[in-house]
Amino acid sequence: MVCLGNICRSPLAEGILRSKIPDNTFLVDSAGTANYHVGKTPDKRSVAIAKKHGLDISHLKGRQFGVADFDTFDLIYVMDESNFKNVIALARNDEDIAKVTFILNEIYPNLNYNVPDPYYGGDEGFETIYNMLNEACDNIVKKLNP
Ligand code: 4NP
Repeated sequence: MVCLGNICRSPLAEGILRSKIPDNTFLVDSAGTANYHVGKTPDKRSVAIAKKHGLDISHLKGRQFGVADFDTFDLIYVMDESNFKNVIALARNDEDIAKVTFILNEIYPNLNYNVPDPYYGGDEGFETIYNMLNEACDNIVKKLNP
């Protein structure tokens, strides 16, 4: 799960997806394309919305997406067009590129919709992104069939 800062959208997506699959079946992680928040815990508003839905993401730590992630992961979900461009810029070949998908394409195939960046908005933005990510992760789990 990849966003810009790895403190709002992608750690929430990581927590949601991990909660829907059995332990030790799939490796789930998140990262940011930027390095501003490396080592930081998620934004308190993401922690709060996760907690409201029974998830604890308070222990996660920000890290930056790197080229090695193309080797570690089979599926790389980006939140928006900017993340997509930044991740694709690091791809070494077509196989790397093929791993990268807009996460909302799991709900709205091929439309490349963005999960809006909630960082500068209010708490309602976090409820909105929780609902989007929860629905997308339900569809991811149906495909992975863990
Ligand atoms: P995220 O949100 O990409 O969903 O983690 C943001 C977090 C921090 C910043 C921007 C977006 N920032 O500019 O610091």
